[in-house]
Amino acid sequence: KGKSKVHWVCDNCGASYGQWAGFCRHCGEMNTLKQFTVAEKLENKTRGAEVSENIVRSWFRQESLEELRPKSLTQVYKGMSKTEWMTPLSGLFGAEVSRVLGGGIVPGSLILVGGDPGVGKSTLLLQIAAMVAETGKAIVYVSAEESIEQIGHRADRMKIGTDDLFLYSSTDIEDILEKVRVLSPQAIIVDSIQTVYLKGVPGSAGSITQVRECTSALLRFAKESKITVFMIGHVTKSGEIAGPRVLEHIVDTVLYMEGERYSTHRLLRSVKNRFGSTDELGVFEMSEGGLQVVSNPSEIFLSENYSSEVLAGLAVTVIIDGSRTFVIEIQALCSSGSMAARHVNGVPMNRADMIISVLMKQAGLKLQDNAIFLNVVSGIKLTETAADLAIAAAICSSFLEFSIPNNVAFIGEIGLGGELRAVPQLDKRINAVSKMGFKTCVIPKAAEKSTSGLDLGDLELIGCRNMKEVINKVF
Ligand code: TYD
Ligand code: MG
Repeated sequence: KGKSKVHWVCDNCGASYGQWAGFCRHCGEMNTLKQFTVAEKLENKTRGAEVSENIVRSWFRQESLEELRPKSLTQVYKGMSKTEWMTPLSGLFGAEVSRVLGGGIVPGSLILVGGDPGVGKSTLLLQIAAMVAETGKAIVYVSAEESIEQIGHRADRMKIGTDDLFLYSSTDIEDILEKVRVLSPQAIIVDSIQTVYLKGVPGSAGSITQVRECTSALLRFAKESKITVFMIGHVTKSGEIAGPRVLEHIVDTVLYMEGERYSTHRLLRSVKNRFGSTDELGVFEMSEGGLQVVSNPSEIFLSENYSSEVLAGLAVTVIIDGSRTFVIEIQALCSSGSMAARHVNGVPMNRADMIISVLMKQAGLKLQDNAIFLNVVSGIKLTETAADLAIAAAICSSFLEFSIPNNVAFIGEIGLGGELRAVPQLDKRINAVSKMGFKTCVIPKAAEKSTSGLDLGDLELIGCRNMKEVINKVF
């Protein structure tokens, strides 16, 4: 008890009351009140959705109710050109962003850009806003976190100055949507979804209910006004503030911005897209003047990790976490003459043992007198067997004192007989290394067929049956 609530709803007009009565105070009909039981949670939701619906509907009521009726398919699509459906952004930066978006900006779509605080989300969206404004279409950057002067300063530092970029600072969704509509912009940016609130919805800004209801308000706004809405969402570890995860299913497109703390590189990844592929990855560098496109990612990524002289004992692979791919580096160190021992970090011990045994037994490596250290860079814990081959390659590299060139990646599971086995979503992993600019990727021979349809660019695939073949072909 206490989780549900009784409502009395009029059959005739839909008015809702907390108590039964013989007639409806709203429409005056007699005996029309029927009892409904509503779960507390659902009730909150309905109230919020109602509010958001009313915001948008109030404008359309002022115009014409025609707008709200279902439309025939031909009415919708007649004469709709490709550019009406999707607007690509121009320039190097625009092209990179457009690619991640699946081709461009879709009118009426709701796009979530998530990322850790400070990663560069506001910077990215301000730059996107500038790109849109340069085409002569209005765009409004609404910040609930900064004053318009603060955004203005930032834009100035980034040398952005166009008449069609409008700034507004507010935390009230209704206020934002009302003010924005006057400009009939092509798009609006809401920075951030955790700092805006919707009146009439319980909870403070950032609570799950608020974040969800504000998002559904923005979704309705986008769909009915055909104005594209970008919203920024902070990824939070503490969990006090509802993060972008809870919104992923509501929005059309989810982009995540990622970056290492001490690196200037930023990755923009599409993890959900109703209008395009989700394997897209944009690579940027944060500079004084904002984000710059990195045209040749492999140089940047690997020069840092490997420095100019390539070290032995390093191998690269791709793991999949949720819907995302991560290109990661495995380090191995084999030192002879010491006590034979194993120290692993990020690799399950039994997997490491198995791979080492296979290397000794099936590939003839004399590892028995070696202490072997294994480490997965950046603290990731492996849960997939797709990294087996890279673990083995790193060990071989250290043991044979042969440095693997920094443009080679390894993907595959290793069986007890030393054979390479296919792994799930190989195409996705191969796409990831191809986009990062790798030149060679070693994969299981058995999985070669499944890669025939892939657009590999400069990437060459080397199919191997077993570890012996890998050693012959790579080392
Ligand atoms: P910001 O976009 O504010 O991050 P977020 O909105 O994700 O919290 O950017 C954060 C960092 O980026 C900030 O520490 C300063 C840096 N930065 C630059 O290096 N160059 C720039 O041109 C700008 C605008 C920011
Ligand atoms: Mg910000």
